[in-house]
Amino acid sequence: MKTSSVTLQKAKHLRGEMTPPPDKSISHRAVFFSSLAHGKSTVKNILKAGDTNSTINAFRMLGVLIEELPDNSLSIDGRGFMQLKEPQDVIDCGNSGTTARLLSGVLAGKKIFSVLTGDQSLRYRPMLRVIEPLTQMGAKIFSRDNNCLPMAIKGGSLKAIEYRMRVASAQVKSAIMLAGLFAAGETVIEEPVKSRDHTERMLKAYGADVRVDGLKVTVRFTGDSLTPCDIAVPADISSAAFFSAGALMVEDAQLMIKDVGLNPTRAGFIDVLKKMGADVKVHDEKEVSGEITGTLLCKYTDRLQPVTLSEKDIPSLIDEFPILCVLATRASGVTEIRGATELRVKESDRISSIVTELRKMGAKIEEYPDGVAIEGPVTLRGSDNLQSYGDHRIAMALSIAAISAEGESVIHGTDAVGISYPDFYDTLKRLTH
Ligand code: S3P
Repeated sequence: MKTSSVTLQKAKHLRGEMTPPPDKSISHRAVFFSSLAHGKSTVKNILKAGDTNSTINAFRMLGVLIEELPDNSLSIDGRGFMQLKEPQDVIDCGNSGTTARLLSGVLAGKKIFSVLTGDQSLRYRPMLRVIEPLTQMGAKIFSRDNNCLPMAIKGGSLKAIEYRMRVASAQVKSAIMLAGLFAAGETVIEEPVKSRDHTERMLKAYGADVRVDGLKVTVRFTGDSLTPCDIAVPADISSAAFFSAGALMVEDAQLMIKDVGLNPTRAGFIDVLKKMGADVKVHDEKEVSGEITGTLLCKYTDRLQPVTLSEKDIPSLIDEFPILCVLATRASGVTEIRGATELRVKESDRISSIVTELRKMGAKIEEYPDGVAIEGPVTLRGSDNLQSYGDHRIAMALSIAAISAEGESVIHGTDAVGISYPDFYDTLKRLTH
């Protein structure tokens, strides 16, 4: 596979205004639920990137009409759950765990045969976490002994279950909720810690019977389709995190980051920045399609405090772990992030990837089975051999480390940013020139 490299120098400044790309999690869900509705839905400001393309292609293979409109919107003409067609070929979920896991929940309840696969990274990510509950509900799912993709699904009539999840995972919760929509009875799911709740919020807007009580979510049989809906997608807080961290680390930096989704189950990173004493302010909060959005004002902060994070803190900042590690190299003292074993089974083993790469830049970072300890403050130095491991968030975290480091850095495998943030390097160039 062809991969690209980017060379970056220490930035002289990082200033201006930006709007990060549309939220990846919300974009996926809007395509899923619109495809299961009966009638036309419009999704405004959809993320056009590798991961969401995987979801769009999957639903096209299942016979859903999805039309791209000129203003970054999609028109989705769903025909309901019953009308989904058997795919003629293997569905390739690319790099997207959200596509693979949520789709398995949909296919579990359809009397059709389908096979899901993915790229080199996705084919090694754990699927037993969805195979187990969906099999309990009545689906037949076949995989190799490692319980990874490729995975064949022969769905059927499902029965509701009560399921206690072992890991906090919005992907697993959403897969069971989707299966529960079309299963006879009432499906109850309990999480150990609350994960992102976009599915719960958005499914209600599409007419589903969803109730939330603390860590428990209950879904009832919905009939054979959802009600169409028009959704506007806010900007992705996980993409905003890279530039907000950059603004805190580049001297004299000041950034306005607009229209960012601030759902409390996603905004743990902002809370941590405030705990670290960072100059971050939130303005213009409003509600858009059931999600809170706001504008972030981030300024260079010369004194950051260390933080200690444990298992209960991880789900609301799960995707921000790599950039938080970069930022922690600047804090005066030891930052400890534990209870984060899930990071080992993301697009790469993010604990090992970030530890290996930040050490090349001179960071004092210790690896634990479930997290890291980082001692600061350290002035990072450039390295000409930084690797992304094909992981979009590692590529972006290292790029922000590079613009705050002394000297020049070369990051390899930067094409990975196309998974969630295709314009990342254009935006970085604009704000640093
Ligand atoms: C996602 C949930 C998270 C997150 C991923 C997107 C989602 O994964 O890491 O990038 O859209 O539901 P888990 O729920 O498996 O932790």
